[in-house]
Formats: sequence, C-alpha cells, structure tokens
Amino acid sequence: MRIDIVTIFPKYLAPLELSLIGRARRAGLVEIAVHDLRDFTHDRHRTVDDAPAGGGAGMVMRPEPWGEVLDRLCAPGGDDPSGADAPTPTLLVPSPSGERFDQPMAHELAGLERIAFACGRYEGIDERVLDEAATRMSVRPVSLGDYVLNGGEVAALAIIEAVVRLLPGVVGNAESLLEESHEGHLLEYPVYTRPATWRGREVPEVLASGHHARIAAWRHEQRLRRTARRRPDLIAAWLAEHRPTERELQILREEGHEQDRGS
Ligand code: ADE
Repeated sequence: MRIDIVTIFPKYLAPLELSLIGRARRAGLVEIAVHDLRDFTHDRHRTVDDAPAGGGAGMVMRPEPWGEVLDRLCAPGGDDPSGADAPTPTLLVPSPSGERFDQPMAHELAGLERIAFACGRYEGIDERVLDEAATRMSVRPVSLGDYVLNGGEVAALAIIEAVVRLLPGVVGNAESLLEESHEGHLLEYPVYTRPATWRGREVPEVLASGHHARIAAWRHEQRLRRTARRRPDLIAAWLAEHRPTERELQILREEGHEQDRGS
C-alpha cells in the first residue's frame, strides 16, 4: 500500500516513523510520503489561506496549492517512485463533517492499493478543490468522531494506524486482530497478566483453569456485558447478526439492556 499525506505541518506526521508503522515501512509493507502544501505555493509568504467568501470567522485554504499537489499525486507515476502504473489514490479528507470512520471502513481502506490524505487546517479547504478532485479520483470526507480537532493531521495518524495494522504481515499474530473491540460488533473482553494477586486483586479464577472452553465462554460473556454497559448502541447491530441464546439474553437483561426485537 502507498499512502500520501498533504499537510502544512509535515512534522506532525513524525510518529509514522515509530513502532509498528515504522517497522512496516522499513519492511516494505507500506510506503508513506508526506508532502508540504507550502511547497506548492508561489508567493514570497508561501500563503495557503485567505478570508472566507461571504464573510465569517477564520480562514479558508486557497484552492491553487491544493490543485497543484493533487495534480502531482494523480500524474502517471506522480511522485511515486514505485512507477508509472500506480493507481490514482482514493482521497481521504479528514473533517468533522465527513462520514464517520469505523472498523469496517478501516478494512475497506486496507484493501486499496493507494490512499492519500488532504489535511485541512483553519475552517477547511475551498470546496472547489474536492469537487474538482472528484472528477479524477474517489474523494471521501471522513470524521474521526463528533468533536472538533484543529486540523486533519491527528485524524490522518489515527486512520493510518487503524488501516496499516490490518495489512498482511504488519501485526505479528493475526489472531490478535480477530477478537478486538469492534470486530463482530462487540467490545474486547478484559485482559490480565501476572502477578496472580496485585494489591489484593485477583486475576479471575477461570483464566488459570486451563479449561479452554470455559475461558472462551467467560470471555464472550465479558464482551457482551461490557458492550451492553458501555456501548448499548452496538448491541442492536450484534443482535441483527446473531440469534442470541437464552443465556445471552439473560446477560443482556442483567445489564439492563431492553430487548427490542421489533427494531
Ligand atoms: N478535523 C477536525 N475535526 C476532525 C474530526 N473530528 N475528524 C476528522 N478530521 C477532523
């Protein structure tokens, strides 16, 4: 996979050198390039923003440098050392007014050969940039959640981490991806390690039993309880895909989840 990121703060993306993603880059599993939007300006002050048309607070990113950098990313072999036949990227535009990013979208993006991020600052990017880009590539405004960040960089970091860890070979133990929160609609079960007793608190006894079926059943129950308690909104999606057992229904009732089989 090839990832391009356009930003006015290239240093914000420095963590992409570290840990799992840094290792994946060095192993050639993902190629990441960061582009400074100001390199595509032509005035002495390297201006990227201007007052909003129609008035109002803040500044808006001017279209010209965005047009130039996207031309470069779309050109045959454009800025891509891997060659002229690289596909046009899917352009992700982090924004609080985008489509909500989630685990299914992470899987979808992990299946693409090439993605790019347009990290806006200020009040956002002149809308014509996205309209024009949409004539030559898939453009997807994406939101990390219902809150406002100062710009797209932190969102790009989060999305890249969620996507890259799904690429084959990036996470050593692929099994560890399967039982995580948001896989199969349920949150992850609680985890413990040594020592068996810490500050008077015990690791749940069943985990030391060596009885795999009992451990699996306990973990499933914990996932269900935790989801019903912390994220009751996810239970409906789980129920739509599973016919719950009597025991599971009882657990949901114990956690105060009202069954609404009609919805
Ligand atoms: N930029 C500003 N706020 C954002 C959010 N919530 N998600 C993605 N990008 C953003």
